[in-house]
Amino acid sequence: MATPKSLSKARITALGTYVPDKILTNEDLERLVDTSDEWIVQRTGIKERHIAAEDEFTSHLCIRAAERLRETYGAALDDVDLIIASTTTPDFSFPTVSCRVQQHFGMERAGAIDLNATCAGFAYALHLANGMISSGLHRKILVVAGETMSKITDYTDRSTCILFGDGAGAVLVEADPELSGGFESVILGTNGAGGIHVYRTGLAEQMDGQPLEGKGKIVQNGREVFKWAVRTVSAGIEQLLEQAELTREDIDWFVPHSANLRMIESICEKADLPLAKTLQSVQDMGNTSSASIPLALQAGVNSGRLKFGDRVLLYGFGSGLTHAGLLLRWDVPDLS
Ligand code: UT7
Repeated sequence: MATPKSLSKARITALGTYVPDKILTNEDLERLVDTSDEWIVQRTGIKERHIAAEDEFTSHLCIRAAERLRETYGAALDDVDLIIASTTTPDFSFPTVSCRVQQHFGMERAGAIDLNATCAGFAYALHLANGMISSGLHRKILVVAGETMSKITDYTDRSTCILFGDGAGAVLVEADPELSGGFESVILGTNGAGGIHVYRTGLAEQMDGQPLEGKGKIVQNGREVFKWAVRTVSAGIEQLLEQAELTREDIDWFVPHSANLRMIESICEKADLPLAKTLQSVQDMGNTSSASIPLALQAGVNSGRLKFGDRVLLYGFGSGLTHAGLLLRWDVPDLS
């Protein structure tokens, strides 16, 4: 599928991120469940994660991320005409996180919508933002992805509580006056049949007559998700490259959803991408669901690796099961 011709072209022009102050280390977890720093590092690569305060919710994290974006962007966000918030952990069912962001910044001309595509949500939100701008319907879209996974994590379940952390990221997607644009290729996919019994949270305690465990907390068959993700993402990368008529050598940075370092290594091995060209946020922040990709991009910017003009392959995947990959040029000006 070739990228369709569009009326306008979109590019990412600013980034901001935020993580809460409180840190939960592997040693802290050793005191909660039967686990060890050695097991966690060996199986996941995770050393610590940031955890929201009791009265700190996803909208607070998203607002802080967008404030940081505004600082580096160097201009007000008054002319944003759409806010897309990606989250699996909204403060409320309604009002939405995007409405709370709109209220904070007083963006009077902005529409506001939340989307939930689980850990693939940031990639889906970028895809929608690109589509909205390419169609000529919008000019400047604020995409925020924020999660307070700690609030839906069962801290008595050692197979999940070691994984998750909280955080948020924001990017600005704007119409490109040069009509060149940064978005090059996209792939989306879903396997709804693999959902409820593999990786879920929610209110239902039974479905289709089958009892479910969890009661609002995350339940996951980690091994199944691992196998599915490695297979799916490596095949998706192949398709993305083919669509865009590019080779692996054309990719400057691979930014997969940061769920598990061992999983990233397996994806790189299967997709034949060098691990050294990967940006991730999992070691210091754990799995922050849809916030993990912007947090990894921030790590790339902060360390001076990710530069203006670099070609980036983003890939989100998660419960649903759902996945989304994007190839794009990084159009955020370098800070130095
Ligand atoms: O956000 C995207 C979606 N989610 C993911 O991407 C998660 C993908 N999966 C994973 O990251 C991994 O499957 C886990 C890290 C969750 C688990 O690692 P694993 O290597 O797949 O372990 P396992 O579930 O196969 O369990 C192996 C053993 C079991 O013990 P037995 O049955 O062999 O005696 C578990 O009970 O490890 C045990 N175990 C632990 N031991 C110490 C499970 N969790 C822990 C723990 N500490 N925290």
